[in-house]
Amino acid sequence: MTKVAIIGAGPCGLSTLRSFEQAEKKGEKIPEIVCFDKQEDWGGLWNYSWRTGSDQYGDPVPNSMYRYLWSNGPKECLEFADYSFDEHFGKPIPSFPPREVLYDYILGRVKKGNSKNKIKFSTTVTSVVYNGNNFEVTYRDKKNATSSTEVFDYVVVANGHFSVPFIPEYPGMKAFPGRIMHSHDFRDAEEFRDKNVVVLGSSYSAEDVALQCHKYGAKSVTIAYRHNPMGFNWPKGMKEVYHLDRLEGNKAIFKDGHVQEADAVILCTGYLHHFPFLPEDLKLKTGNRLYPPKLYKGVVWQNNHKLMYLGMQDQFHTFNMFDCQAWFARDIIMGKIKIPDTSEIEKDINKWVSMEEKLESADQMIDFQTEYTKELHTLSDYPKIDFELIRKIFKEWEHHKVENIMTYRNKSFSSPVTGSIGPKHHTAWEVAMDDSLKTFLDQPKNKL
Ligand SMILES: Cc1cc2nc3c(=O)[nH]c(=O)nc-3n(C[C@H](O)[C@H](O)[C@H](O)COP(=O)(O)OP(=O)(O)OC[C@H]3O[C@@H](n4cnc5c(N)ncnc54)[C@H](O)[C@@H]3O)c2cc1C
Ligand SMILES: NC(=O)c1ccc[n+]([C@@H]2O[C@H](COP(=O)([O-])OP(=O)(O)OC[C@H]3O[C@@H](n4cnc5c(N)ncnc54)[C@H](OP(=O)(O)O)[C@@H]3O)[C@@H](O)[C@H]2O)c1
Repeated sequence: MTKVAIIGAGPCGLSTLRSFEQAEKKGEKIPEIVCFDKQEDWGGLWNYSWRTGSDQYGDPVPNSMYRYLWSNGPKECLEFADYSFDEHFGKPIPSFPPREVLYDYILGRVKKGNSKNKIKFSTTVTSVVYNGNNFEVTYRDKKNATSSTEVFDYVVVANGHFSVPFIPEYPGMKAFPGRIMHSHDFRDAEEFRDKNVVVLGSSYSAEDVALQCHKYGAKSVTIAYRHNPMGFNWPKGMKEVYHLDRLEGNKAIFKDGHVQEADAVILCTGYLHHFPFLPEDLKLKTGNRLYPPKLYKGVVWQNNHKLMYLGMQDQFHTFNMFDCQAWFARDIIMGKIKIPDTSEIEKDINKWVSMEEKLESADQMIDFQTEYTKELHTLSDYPKIDFELIRKIFKEWEHHKVENIMTYRNKSFSSPVTGSIGPKHHTAWEVAMDDSLKTFLDQPKNKL
């Protein structure tokens, strides 16, 4: 019997488990599957942890999400085609849910099946060796401090790429009297109430961590971009300046001459794709981009078609793109999709990579990833979903952010699966301090 190892039980690993379960439901004989996750429970980044640094076994903590994190994109864009929000919650819910609500949704469909017993939790994959025929996968059971090796025919790498922080150094950091941290370790903006915070970066973490600090009462928030400013109309108390030059004592000195007193510096400088368990010839080496090279259809390792990578792209699309990738990977493993010859694969990869390199605007990037996901969608029996609506919603969302970065999360969209419209949330995001599932779902009737 074919054996498949899945490394990671985050959204990508769970999509893979779900894809096989759906095939089994249709009466197909599926391979033997073992999924490994180094955490104690499933859900990947969405499984919030208060921990930073190492866990109780000395293993680096993968979690990068924080308390009070709300979805930064409309939930309609990430909806599962085979399990709508309406089905999970029994009613339409607002378009920008907090983390706990999305976590509940991600787990909803897998809880209905028997996937959990295929997962070995608190188990870190430490090595994958290809012996010319199959893979020898070594894993460490952290609770019992034991290591084992098992042989698999296929390996699906689904360990995420937002867990290992990229931490640059700037002059003066060693002598800075305040706190310096990476967004990976950011857990609670309350810590920065009444403080002067400097945030480095110009992408989603910089934007959202800065907004969180402002929302929870920071005295000032100064965001320093390196290449392109985000350029939003920041509220009073927030500003965007050009590139940090150095720290001198508690002063941050920027390349545009700006000087700011700082109590804390938060590095929102991104993450490293990190695969310490893979040998060099199987290791994806890439920055955070929309089409990492060497992956056929963004999934299959060019030089070994029994190795798949899921979710390694920079992400506009998330959960339904992961599903399309998982369904595609499943069908390759089950022999339903034939991999073309080497030159076809190279041509296909080059086509996508060269298209990606020409992208200039956010709208073009949205189009690119929508086209990629649509193409993958045609290759398997993943259920119907309206990708044209998703494309449109993403673009409207981008424009809402430009209109007002403080209010974009108060907007509503319609579902690409059921067509239902997300109701307006009872409390505007700027003043919604309680991010619990209960409070979010309890829509007081008189406020609607
Ligand atoms: C701060 C932050 C906020 C985000 N917010 C959103 C959002 O609002 N909406 C959205 O759609 N996306 C968001 N994302 C994007 C996020 O990448 C995806 O939503 C999703 O979590 C990716 O799923 P994944 O399975 O690829 O990776 P992960 O969620 O990272 O899961 C990977 C899993 O692999 C496990 N693992 C890693 N290494 C090993 C190993 N060696 N052995 C065993 N297990 C291992 C980890 O424990 C983890 O459980 C956010 C990302 C970050 C960093
Ligand atoms: N739900 C939410 O609200 C939420 C919140 C946070 C994050 N996220 C998600 O988290 C993921 C990761 O986002 P991310 O912003 O952490 O990573 P990212 O998108 O890869 O961005 C990395 C940023 O770091 C900057 N940078 C890198 N090196 C630098 C240096 N030496 N000095 C200054 N700046 C430097 C880059 O700027 P250059 O352009 O200059 O290279 C870029 O702006 C995304 O999928 C995002 O959607 C979601």
